[in-house]
Amino acid sequence: MISKSTISTRPWNGIIDCYRTYLPVSDKTPVITLNEGNTPLIFAPHISKLCNIPGLSVYLKVEGANPTGSFKDRGMTMAVSKSLEEKSKAIICASTGNTSASAAAYAARARANGYKMDCFVLVPKGYVALGKLSQAMIYGAKVVQVKGNFDEALKLVKSIVEKYPVTLVNSVNPFRIEGQKTAAFEVCEQLGRVPDVLAIPVGNAGNITAYWKGFCEYGKSDRPKMIGFQASGAAPIVLNKIVEKPETIATAIRIGNPASWKQAVNAASESGGFIDMVSDEEIIEAYKTLHQMEGIACEPASAASVAGLIKSAKAKKIQPESTVVCVLTGNGLKDPDTAIKSSSQESLEIEADLNKIAKSLGF
Ligand code: F0G
Repeated sequence: MISKSTISTRPWNGIIDCYRTYLPVSDKTPVITLNEGNTPLIFAPHISKLCNIPGLSVYLKVEGANPTGSFKDRGMTMAVSKSLEEKSKAIICASTGNTSASAAAYAARARANGYKMDCFVLVPKGYVALGKLSQAMIYGAKVVQVKGNFDEALKLVKSIVEKYPVTLVNSVNPFRIEGQKTAAFEVCEQLGRVPDVLAIPVGNAGNITAYWKGFCEYGKSDRPKMIGFQASGAAPIVLNKIVEKPETIATAIRIGNPASWKQAVNAASESGGFIDMVSDEEIIEAYKTLHQMEGIACEPASAASVAGLIKSAKAKKIQPESTVVCVLTGNGLKDPDTAIKSSSQESLEIEADLNKIAKSLGF
């Protein structure tokens, strides 16, 4: 059992420092960190009531508070540190955006520590939120926009690493899963107990795999029901069929053939949970509710966890008195275009005149 004091009394130096004994690292592993992890777990009073289940408590694990604005940093500190231990000088990934931002940042951090480390990223052209693309570019990665979707880009990078001296840092790299499992430890420590239900968006299915591994290793006999949510236009696991042309407004999870498909199905079934899908309308509704009624920002894909919880609560698939944690995987600032489009506000343009402004504000 990890004691609560690991977070509260020690200076925070990232997840490898905090959870070293739970991770495959040794004194020989050069630790590349941006002090990721230790993200807030915040109670959500409005969503708790909205679900209309007696005694329901909903908490949000705000992973957008990580250094590059997504949960990927937990996995990337491990993947990049281990790649350096193995003397790699370059990393590569396919990405819907967040993995590429994180890989680019940790490669830069490796360079800060005196290592040679190049970063190459393949992203689907036209389907990466602006914030993420700009991150990969400014952190100094070589960015290739592929005329194809994420699944095609992942196939390409898998072929590249077979031929060339470069390390794959997608979540098929087992060190990514190891790092990401630490979020499950944090949830239990912050809550002071294991949650009854963990709701999470599912794309390439690495994160649901990682959380389940974390809960299984945490050392308590209780484990949460894992409930995962895909977007309905990109729901291969729910449909039990590869989706050749995935489509969703939640571009982070616009994936038709997840690499960790089997592991995700296993996490859901072993835990007594399920994987379901939510429509783009349900995702945007939850995205707006999170911002406007909780004051908590996330990107659209992240809101799939809350949309899924609301859908499941309506279908009476959530037990009364449950404690539920929804994972908000990415920061709201990643996708300003969707934020502006989804907002019901029109921004007003008015002369700098007191009376006119006051009138326009409704006074
Ligand atoms: N939420 C966000 C914000 C993501 O960026 C991703 C995945 C997911 C959820 C789904 O997690 O793939 O582990 O099931 N993004 C990857 C990327 C695919 O390239 O950034 P998953």
